Amino acid sequence: MEKEQLITEINRLKKEKNAVIMAHYYQTGDIQDIADNIGDSLALAQWASKTDADIIVLCGVHFMGETAKILSPQKKVLVPDLNAGCSLADSCPADAFEAFTKAHPDHTVISYVNTTAAVKALTDVVVTSTNAKKIVEQFPKDAKIIFGPDRNLGNYINSVTGRNMLLWDGACHVHEQFSVEKLVKLKEEYPNAEILAHPECKRPLLLMADYIGSTQALLNYATNSDKKQFLVATESGILHEMQKKNPDKEFIPVPPNDSTCACNECNFMRLNTLEKLYECLKNETPEILVEESVREKAVKPILKMLEMS
Ligand code: 13P
Ligand code: SF4
Repeated sequence: MEKEQLITEINRLKKEKNAVIMAHYYQTGDIQDIADNIGDSLALAQWASKTDADIIVLCGVHFMGETAKILSPQKKVLVPDLNAGCSLADSCPADAFEAFTKAHPDHTVISYVNTTAAVKALTDVVVTSTNAKKIVEQFPKDAKIIFGPDRNLGNYINSVTGRNMLLWDGACHVHEQFSVEKLVKLKEEYPNAEILAHPECKRPLLLMADYIGSTQALLNYATNSDKKQFLVATESGILHEMQKKNPDKEFIPVPPNDSTCACNECNFMRLNTLEKLYECLKNETPEILVEESVREKAVKPILKMLEMS
């Protein structure tokens, strides 16, 4: 089917089925353009908890669909490609994480939203990159805290809050790939540009950044800044909305270490396509399902996060 026809059909099916399309900023531009809501992980969770649609099509990765399903179990939650996983969530298997938490029974467990439902079920409070600092600061300075699974975000939150959280040793394969050397060269080429970075990047890169934040925070910062050029160290999908909102500004993606790959694109996020979105709305599959016994436990730390945000 031609792109225009796909768009028409998706819009028709959406109305007919009372469905809502939610997309993360790392989706391809055509998916972001057709979505009813585009946002970061926190916004996606907030919208999923409030929507009155019967079907949520979550154009993002599996854990985002799971979070929506956990918050809205009575709704049908679809993800265009169920293979859209997350290397960061994969770096934290529930059984190993459970052993880690059991080895430190006096610790509060804070987990990044990039985790499976099973890991959330072992967690006291979920955070996203938007609210991690704010939530961690609500615990006493000397509170014993386990933070998982992202070591880079955990290190960053420790450094800005003066905490000493015990970190799980996980990471995102996209954000760990950005090249500091190439960023230094880019900064020489664009001396007036501001460097924007996601906290999942490694510390040496974060030390060079003018601003560190979630996808939504980076977008807001660029929109409000007087500067005209930005070097962006996060998945390059965010450049679509940055450019759309700021047509007079220039956004340059920071390249990965390996220039032969498109490693600043998340291969999982990019599994979703307009064609798969159409098929998924038409057939109402693949659907995200979460076992009720897991959901009952996993919903508590997510609701706690929404309350503390
Ligand atoms: P945000 O919540 O900042 O959008 O991050 C999601 C994500 O997967 C980052 O890699
Ligand atoms: Fe997961 Fe990284 Fe992709 Fe975000 S960019 S979904 S953390 S693999």
